[in-house]
Amino acid sequence: MAWYNDANKFYKDLKIMKKILSIVGARPQFIKSAPLSKEIRKHFTEILVHTGQHYDQNMSPIFFEELSIAEPDYNLEIGSGGHGEQTGKMLIELEKVLIKEKPHMVLVYGDTNSTAAGALAAAKLHIPVAHVEAGLRSYNRTMPEEINRVLADHLSELLICPTETAVRNLKKEGITKGVYNAGDVMYDALIVNRKVAENKSKILETMNLRPKTYLFATIHRAENTDDKGNLKNIIEAFRQSKEIIVFPAHPRTQKMLKEYNLKLSSNLKIIEPVGYLDSLQLQTNSKKVLTDSGGVQKEAYILKVPCITLREETEWVETVDDGWNVLVGADKKKILRAIADLNPEDKQHTYFGTGNSASRITKILVDYFKVMSLSNHE
Ligand code: UD1
Ligand code: UDP
Repeated sequence: MAWYNDANKFYKDLKIMKKILSIVGARPQFIKSAPLSKEIRKHFTEILVHTGQHYDQNMSPIFFEELSIAEPDYNLEIGSGGHGEQTGKMLIELEKVLIKEKPHMVLVYGDTNSTAAGALAAAKLHIPVAHVEAGLRSYNRTMPEEINRVLADHLSELLICPTETAVRNLKKEGITKGVYNAGDVMYDALIVNRKVAENKSKILETMNLRPKTYLFATIHRAENTDDKGNLKNIIEAFRQSKEIIVFPAHPRTQKMLKEYNLKLSSNLKIIEPVGYLDSLQLQTNSKKVLTDSGGVQKEAYILKVPCITLREETEWVETVDDGWNVLVGADKKKILRAIADLNPEDKQHTYFGTGNSASRITKILVDYFKVMSLSNHE
């Protein structure tokens, strides 16, 4: 016991002794891992695995470059595919890496197929799983993300929630052990990179945009991209608004816009997906945001830009409660009304923490191993 009284020695030994294997694969996971990976590496040996779910220059490498994320130790290069195919291939390859690396813990982020595959591969090998962004629910099981979240949460030993709502959601499912609210790690990323974006991003100049004269849009959810009627309604609402709308289009959205042969109006500025710095800069300077992204809803809230969410429900209910976000689905009339009328009061809360989530999560991980070590020494 006395051996562990020296905290510094404990942390030093922890770094030598404990290996955390983090799994990322999709755009928002690179952003979330940027602040956390840097903190984790102060106390642990981190092995970073990229499943290869996202792979285009503007969907993956650009985030590693802009956010100085360490080169992944493994890139499984799984690529795109049907849900079963993609998740299955990930499981096969992740299992091999886990058997080889024998980590003490596997860390997964969010709700993608990479999250579900990572949690399942680890749990089957009896490796404890920590789920960052645990407890979020849309209560819509037709969303692939909802299935991935529920699965990851029910397989995890540490459930690291971004909000109190998420903690409550888990309680409703009977999960109370190993649950922590550590704030939102995307908030950390935003705080650090907002100023960097202001100084480095040239997107406003390149696109000849003046601040607060345009709207910013992103769309990538299956319910919008894979439903011709929904995508058509949204694009038609964009046309009728007559606003300048800057729309960095996700590859799946680009593909479906072509496939459906939808007529695109000249007020709609469709561009390739942008890097994180350009995304922050475009959002900060927009009048309003139109999106079906989870991350963008939160960023809009934190940046105090009114958000119009092109979905019927949201996991980030706090942004709606405060009046900064409205749910309009793919309803043309509701979209147009919100573009014209949404004007929230200047009222906000610290639902997402204070921007120190990465160090809080790392402390949770350190304490977890401390308790394990102490119980092994008793
Ligand atoms: C995935 C996640 C979603 C997350 C989103 C973040 C799942 C089920 N969905 O959705 O939760 O919000 O990432 O952006 O895991 N494609 C490319 N190049 C790429 C990546 C994708 O062309 O680099 C195209 C492919 O045609 C692919 C399609 O986009 O089939 C969809 O990609 P996929 O990763 O399956 O799902 P996302 O819609 O990106
Ligand atoms: N984002 C980006 N470039 C874009 C669109 C979004 O960097 O062209 C960023 C955005 O600022 C946010 C994150 O990607 O930080 C959100 O990821 P995404 O919308 O892909 O997934 P979700 O959050 O819905 O899971």
